[in-house]
Amino acid sequence: MTTSLEGKTALVTGAGRGIGRATALQLAEAGVAVALVARSEDQLAETADRVNELGGTALVVPADLGELSEVSRAIQQTNDELGVVDVLINDAAVVWPLGPSVSVDSNEWAAAIAINVVAVAALSFALLPAMSERNWGRIVNVSSGIAAHPGSMIGMNAYAAGKAALEAHTINLAAELAGSGVTVNAFGPGSVDTAMQAWIRGQEPAQIGAALHERFARSYAEGAMITPEQSARSLLPHLSSDATGQIWNASESS
Ligand SMILES: NC(=O)c1ccc[n+]([C@@H]2O[C@H](COP(=O)([O-])OP(=O)(O)OC[C@H]3O[C@@H](n4cnc5c(N)ncnc54)[C@H](OP(=O)(O)O)[C@@H]3O)[C@@H](O)[C@H]2O)c1
Repeated sequence: MTTSLEGKTALVTGAGRGIGRATALQLAEAGVAVALVARSEDQLAETADRVNELGGTALVVPADLGELSEVSRAIQQTNDELGVVDVLINDAAVVWPLGPSVSVDSNEWAAAIAINVVAVAALSFALLPAMSERNWGRIVNVSSGIAAHPGSMIGMNAYAAGKAALEAHTINLAAELAGSGVTVNAFGPGSVDTAMQAWIRGQEPAQIGAALHERFARSYAEGAMITPEQSARSLLPHLSSDATGQIWNASESS
C-alpha cells in the first residue's frame, strides 16, 4: 500500500545542511510541514528560507541533541508550534572522534554515542505514542555502510559502533511495532559530498591515520560521491510504502 505524504508533518534532525537539508526540502516539495532541528540556527534559517520559497511550512528548532533535555524541548516546541509529528528523519550525526582508539577520550566517545544513538532512540520513543494512536508513522534512521563493514574504516571506532547500534535498534523496534502502521527503517545515504566529508579531509593525516585520510581524499578526488539531493531523492519514495525493518541504500534505489 502507498500513502501520499501531503499534509503530513515531519521532524528532520541535521536539517541545517547536507543530507538532512536536502531531505527536508524534498519533504517540503511533497507537501510536508517540516520541523528543522540542529545546533546552528543560521543554517536552519537558511533551510527554512528555502522551504518558504517552495511554498512550504518550516519551523526552526535549534537544539543540541547530545543533551536529552534539549531533545525533549525540541519535541515540545515542534508539537506546540507545528503539531503532531508523522515522520521522523533521524539524520543528525557526528563522525568524531577519529584516530587510534588509544588516543580517543572516552568522554568524546560517549558524547558521539549520545548524539548518534541515544538521541535517535529518545526522539523515536517520545514521538511513538502519537504515531501509534493514529496507526501511522514513519521513522527513518540515517545509517552508514560502516555498519555492515565495521572493520573497513580504521580510526572510526565510535562511528562504527554507533551506526551498528543504530541499525540493531532500528530492526528491533520495527519488529516490536510490526502491524501497528508505524514503520522503522534505516537508510544508508551513500558516499555524499557534504561538510562531514570535507571535515574529515581537513584533518591531519598523522592524527586520524594516513589510510583513513587517504580513503576520503581519494573518494573526493575521483568524484566518486553523490550530492545530498541525489541521496535524498532515493529516500523519499520509500516513505510512502509500508515496508519496515529494512536497511535501504541510496545506490539501490536512486
Ligand atoms: N556524507 C556521507 O558521505 C555520509 C555517508 C554515510 C552516512 N552519512 C550519514 O548521513 C547523515 C548526515 O550526514 P552529512 O554528511 O549530511 O553531515 P553534515 O553535513 O555534517 O550534517 C550533519 C547535521 O547534523 C547536525 N548535528 C550534528 N551534531 C548535532 C547535535 N549535537 N545536535 C543537533 N544536530 C546536530 C549538524 O548541525 P550542527 O552541527 O549545526 O548541529 C548538521 O545539520 C549522518 O547520519 C551521517 O552519519 C553520511
